[in-house]
Amino acid sequence: MPIILENISVFYSRNTPLEIAALKDVNLRIEKGEFVGILGEKGAGKSTLIKLFNGLLRPDSGRITVNGLDPSSKKVKSRVGMVFQQPADQLFCRTVYEEIAFGPLNFGYSRKETEERVFEALEAASLERSMLSRDPLSLSGGEMQRVALAGALALRPDYLVLDEPITGLDPAGKKEILETLKKIKGQGTTIITVTHNLKGFFPLLERIVLIKEGRISFQGSRKEYMETENVPLPPVASMMRELHSRGIQVNPAVFTVEEALEEILRVKLMIEKEKAEKERAEKQTEK
Ligand SMILES: Nc1ncnc2c1ncn2[C@@H]1O[C@H](COP(=O)(O)OP(=O)(O)OP(=O)(O)O)[C@@H](O)[C@H]1O
Ligand SMILES: [Mg+2]
Repeated sequence: MPIILENISVFYSRNTPLEIAALKDVNLRIEKGEFVGILGEKGAGKSTLIKLFNGLLRPDSGRITVNGLDPSSKKVKSRVGMVFQQPADQLFCRTVYEEIAFGPLNFGYSRKETEERVFEALEAASLERSMLSRDPLSLSGGEMQRVALAGALALRPDYLVLDEPITGLDPAGKKEILETLKKIKGQGTTIITVTHNLKGFFPLLERIVLIKEGRISFQGSRKEYMETENVPLPPVASMMRELHSRGIQVNPAVFTVEEALEEILRVKLMIEKEKAEKERAEKQTEK
């Protein structure tokens, strides 16, 4: 069953001079098994949107259901795993083990079942067992991010919701998180991630939701997104669009450096072939 939002509005500081409409009349449907990217500028409403998915925030108007249920129900809370924008904010236990075990214990699983889930989540998040006794706050940014991820995975969620999971990580840390998410998605988990890192995430995204000033300004497949004007693109896709607009016959709907290289080399070969044919034709007319 999907996540369905109908005519959702969310306000902060309602009925005060500081009132802010963070989401305005949002309609959205996220199907199970998708890899969804939520994009938008700072303050667009991205974090507000995802906090609705597990009932952390309640809408001021409209309706949201997850698998047909109210998101603040206990059943939904255990099905939706969340990793916040600042992982350090969600780590509060003394050891990595306690941190990952917190969710399953809280939802009433036995010590034994919990232990199984901790080891499973640890492996899924590409963490070493030797890390289990460490203080979570002594870890590097990338490791903290993966401990928070393991904590969410220990509930074996249907939906994994992440807020900027690779921001602030070094290239190796980014790559590891992206690989991990790809693996988790391959196991059937729906992944919804807020990101402004199009370079890293774009190849993974199947559907894109673009938020602008609290409203959804685009939702659709990556292909549809690529065909839309005035949307943020990964740098390599912007470059390909620019080359295309300058008359170089590359396919502009390319979003990885590898594909761009292949495409540019294809055009180079095509130009060389045309040139050789032209020269041959000229030589024949000379004869
Ligand atoms: N707790 C809060 N109290 C008051 N206003 C808030 C609160 N949280 C968010 N806002 C405001 O609501 C709007 C949407 O915020 P939100 O955090 O959802 O944006 P965002 O797209 O996640 O931004 P960013 O990219 O900076 O994380 C912004 O104008 C923000 O200042
Ligand atoms: Mg945010």
